Order: sequence, then C-alpha cells, then structure tokens
Amino acid sequence: MRWLVVGGGAREHAIALALARAGAEVAVASSQANPGLERLAAISSRTEPTDAEAVVAFATRAGARAAVVGPEAPLARGVSDALRAAGVPTVGPEREAARLESSKVYCRELLARRGVPGQPRFATPTTPEEVDRAVPSFEGRFVVKPDGLTAGKGVRVAGADFADPREGAVYAKALLVQGERVVLEEQLEGEEFSQMAFVTDSGIYPMPAVQDYKRALEGDTGGNTGGMGSYSQRDHLLPFLSSADRDRALGILEKSVAAIRAEGRSYRGVLYGGFMMTARGPFLLELNVRFGDPEGINALTLYEEGDFSELLLGVAQGRVDPNLLRFRLRATVVKYLVPPGYGGRATGGGVVSLDEAAIEADGVHVVYGAVEAAGPGTVRLGTSRGLALVGEASAIHEAGTRVESALRHVSGSFYVRHDIGTAADLERRRERMRQLLAPGARASPLPLSVAAPDAPPSSAGPPEQLAG
Ligand code: AMP
Ligand code: GLY
Repeated sequence: MRWLVVGGGAREHAIALALARAGAEVAVASSQANPGLERLAAISSRTEPTDAEAVVAFATRAGARAAVVGPEAPLARGVSDALRAAGVPTVGPEREAARLESSKVYCRELLARRGVPGQPRFATPTTPEEVDRAVPSFEGRFVVKPDGLTAGKGVRVAGADFADPREGAVYAKALLVQGERVVLEEQLEGEEFSQMAFVTDSGIYPMPAVQDYKRALEGDTGGNTGGMGSYSQRDHLLPFLSSADRDRALGILEKSVAAIRAEGRSYRGVLYGGFMMTARGPFLLELNVRFGDPEGINALTLYEEGDFSELLLGVAQGRVDPNLLRFRLRATVVKYLVPPGYGGRATGGGVVSLDEAAIEADGVHVVYGAVEAAGPGTVRLGTSRGLALVGEASAIHEAGTRVESALRHVSGSFYVRHDIGTAADLERRRERMRQLLAPGARASPLPLSVAAPDAPPSSAGPPEQLAG
C-alpha cells in the first residue's frame, strides 16, 4: 500500500524507512528535497507541510491510502483533520488535540483540571502584576515558558539562563507585552527522558524509553537544541529509569489521553512525554503530539520485526493488534552531524562527504535530515541538524562506539557530540541520580500524587551492566 509521509526531516526519513522495510510505498510532501527521502519515495512533491489544502491535493494525486504527519506545525494547523475529512486515515491527532503541544498554557491547565499526576507546580499569569505575585512562591527555582511552538528554544531556566529571579520575571513580562501567553513553573532537578507511545481509541502502546541530548556541546553545555543525539537501552528502560518509574510515566501519558478525550477529542497518533526523572518520581515537562526527533529514530530503528505499515494503519484507524508492537531488545545510539555553531549561530553551506556503503557495512545506518544533495556521496549542510548516524548493539556504549567508528567514513566541516552514550557519560548520569536519591539530598516540600500505574506492563529486565 502507498503511504503519504508529511514532512521532510530525519524523523520523516526514519518513518519512511520503517514503512519501506515493511514493503510499503511512500509518497512524500515536504518543502525541501531530502536526499534520503527522494531516493526512497515512489513520488514526492515540494509541498508546504502546513498547507492543508495542498497536502490533501497531493495525497489524492499520489493515490495515498493513509498518511502519517511527522512534525508538530502541520498538526497544529489541522492537516490531519483535512486529510481525514478527505477520507485518508491519518496518524496524527486532530488540531484541537494537538494543542497539548502547541499551547503550553492549554496543556498545563487541562491536565491540572483533570487531575493528571506528575505535574510541577505552575502559574499562568496574564499581567505583569500577576508575574510579580507568582515569582516569589517559587523561591528562585522556576522556569519561564512561552505558550506557543518554539522548537524548545524559548524556555528559560533559573541558574542556566538567568541568575536572578528578577531577570526571569522581566523575561516573562516581556513575553506578555509581545502578546504571548506564558507559563511559570517549578524547576525540577533530575534526568530528562522521552517516553513515546502510539495512541488509539482503546489505549496507549509504549515505545522504548529514550534519552535525548538537548545541549549543543559535550558535557551538556552550550545552547538548547532540538536534540544532538539520543540513546535507548536494550531492555527499553534507561540507566537511571526503573521499570516501576517507567510505568508511572506511562500512567501519566494514559491519564493525559483520558483528559483530552474528556474534552470530546479523539486521538489517533503518537504521544510523546518529555519527563524529568526526579527524586519524587517522573514529572512531565511537556507533551508532544508526534515522534521525537531524534528519539523517533531510535524507536523506529528497533522496529524491524512485524509489519510497521499494518501497525501504523491500525493507529490511523484507531485500533491496533498488540502483537504488532515488536521492538527488538537492542540498544541504540543516534548522533547528529550538525553545522559548526549549531545551537548558537550555525554556519550552513558546508559540504560533507560520506561513504554510505562503508558505513552500512559497519552496521550503522544513515538517516538524512536538513541536507541537500551535492553530487555523488556528498551533501550540503543547512543551518539545522544534518545527518543522523544510528548504531545498534547489545549495550548502549557499544552502539555509541559503532557510530564513532563509522565516522571515519565521513569527512567535511561538521560538529558531532562524541560523548553521547559513552560509558563515562552514562555513569555520570547514574551518579547524578544516586546523589539526588541520597538521604539528606535537598528535599522538596511539594507532594507528588502519582496514582498507581494502570499502564501496560513494560519489558522489565536488569539495568544494563557497563564494562568500565
Ligand atoms: P520544554 O520545551 O517544555 O521541553 O522545555 C525545554 C527544556 O527546558 C527541557 O528539555 C528542559 O531541559 C527544560 N525544562 C523545561 N521545564 C522544566 C522544568 N519544570 N524544570 C527544569 N527544567 C525544565
Ligand atoms: N528531541 C526533542 C523533540 O523532538 O521535541
């Protein structure tokens, strides 16, 4: 069968690769020509993914039987509503449900109203006076978030982005003056992780947990980015995430879906919780209504058994066969090659040469992002994340070593975080978690009311043992 993939980045390339492995054909609607997608697609069109009318017209012309919408912006603009109205079953929530991601105010207020656990304390001030009244209650430890889609770049965190609470207040007031709404929330301490799930009419179906590296530079320094790379662990947990805590996170996602349903909305697609694993359990930082990028690349790489096309069609139609949820028990590491300066002022235009056959021979896959073809074996970088290399092994650090080794087949001017998924980096994260959990660690006065999880069981297993 033929699928329409909306969007042209690495996440969409990974979706298309998984569909192609299942024998499906792919039609691609994207604003730029992604060399990986162009090579794979039966038909493609330079169509603006947020232009619902143009996307529907292309779906019809391409003879697509179903569609999957990759990025958040088309979902926020109602592209899945338009596709469904045209009779195309679609993976991606309707516009009103996509507000869970496109409006942080809507999301927090809805989840609070419906009693969804795992929420940090927050305020949604609407005037400068309300900002001044709210700020002292956070005792200097808070985060300021603009309401709308900012690709993770508008959020400012105490300590990292502002030293004095007054600076945070000034930023919040400036957003209000610009007509933007704003969320102030309690600053949480811990390790971040991403938990994605397929959502159907009858329940949620989890994917492996993933940790994304958001900061541009090694050692988690530098600016916030869309994600420089990510890893997943063989047992689908993470070095600092137990099976019980993952189930609590899934419980939070399930209750979030119940909350949006209680508003009269349907949800067929992917829901992705950005969580902070804290000493008080997992807390929700944000909800996204799509696959993560790069997190989706980790999960989709692990989907090789079963039929991905059938699974996605089930999601689009609201009902899946749980036997199709087959992610291999392997660890993965994704590393993005980005233009120099990415995360600050990126210098695009550099040419990168790669010997893809040699990389694949090393057991590493190339997923194409924001690059354009520049001749045989060469691509030109834009100002965003360029190429993702994905390695797989039984342990995370081995998967990372595979990617590092494959980098010898790539040359040009680019930056890559070499510390993603190394044994030393994973140990640092475990140690940070141990310190947070240690008796006498700064206890928070806020209660956590995560109810007993009623989520599907996760694949439990011993934490990954690292050699050295
Ligand atoms: P968001 O777009 O809401 O995921 O925020 C972007 C980044 O800001 C997250 O990946 C975290 O690193 C950080 N962040 C967001 N909310 C909080 C919070 N409540 N406490 C600490 N850090 C946060
Ligand atoms: N990796 C972060 C995101 O997909 O939003």
